[in-house]
Amino acid sequence: MSLPPVIAIDGPTASGKGTVASLVAQKLGFHYLDSGALYRLVALASEQEGIDTQNASELGILVPKLMISFKNSQIFLNGADVTEAIRTESIGLRASAVAVHPEVRLALVDLQRSFRQFPGLVADGRDMASIIFPDAILKVFLTATAAARAERRYKQLIAKGISAKLEDLLQDLQARDARDSNRGTAPLVIAEGAKVLETSDLSIDQAVKTVLDWYQSAIA
Ligand code: CDP
Repeated sequence: MSLPPVIAIDGPTASGKGTVASLVAQKLGFHYLDSGALYRLVALASEQEGIDTQNASELGILVPKLMISFKNSQIFLNGADVTEAIRTESIGLRASAVAVHPEVRLALVDLQRSFRQFPGLVADGRDMASIIFPDAILKVFLTATAAARAERRYKQLIAKGISAKLEDLLQDLQARDARDSNRGTAPLVIAEGAKVLETSDLSIDQAVKTVLDWYQSAIA
């Protein structure tokens, strides 16, 4: 029997891929993998354990020991609800620092692939199409200009009651883009065969509809 279909949605920080991917999953009744959350969990756990972000070998040992679970929209780390704690900008930056290490990435491969279950999976991240699900039936590279992304991130944080400065966010996301795109292992790239979706001038509904239309064509 063939494997469940995967829609891989990759893109830079704050491109809206999380929102679009989870809505596409909802519309299709598919499972959803937020792979960035896993790197954020490693970032949080390493901070709690006092492990330096450059210490690749200790990070690689830490990852398999983590007890990670997703229940509805909540995320648990070693039994504690960390849904909100992993969403801060500082954890996002730390996540991109731990994510450069092949030891960390390798330790997360099987966990990510275990999300591939019937009737299908929508997975979002940086290397879903290139490394984790190279046989995805649809590969989308979702992006927007840095200015549009900074503004979205700003609105997201303010809506959550977290204070933020637009200029700092723009700088942070440019630093994160550079690190994610230039790292040696699994850099953020437009995978071969991926369709680029530029969302600076699209509403969420328009972006979701485009992905759903592409999926219908892909399976036709
Ligand atoms: O929400 P945002 O797009 O800013 O980030 P995220 O998707 O939660 O991912 C946080 C960080 O984890 C990214 O900056 C990447 O460095 C890393 N990441 C990765 O390396 N590979 C993935 N598949 C997903 C995230």
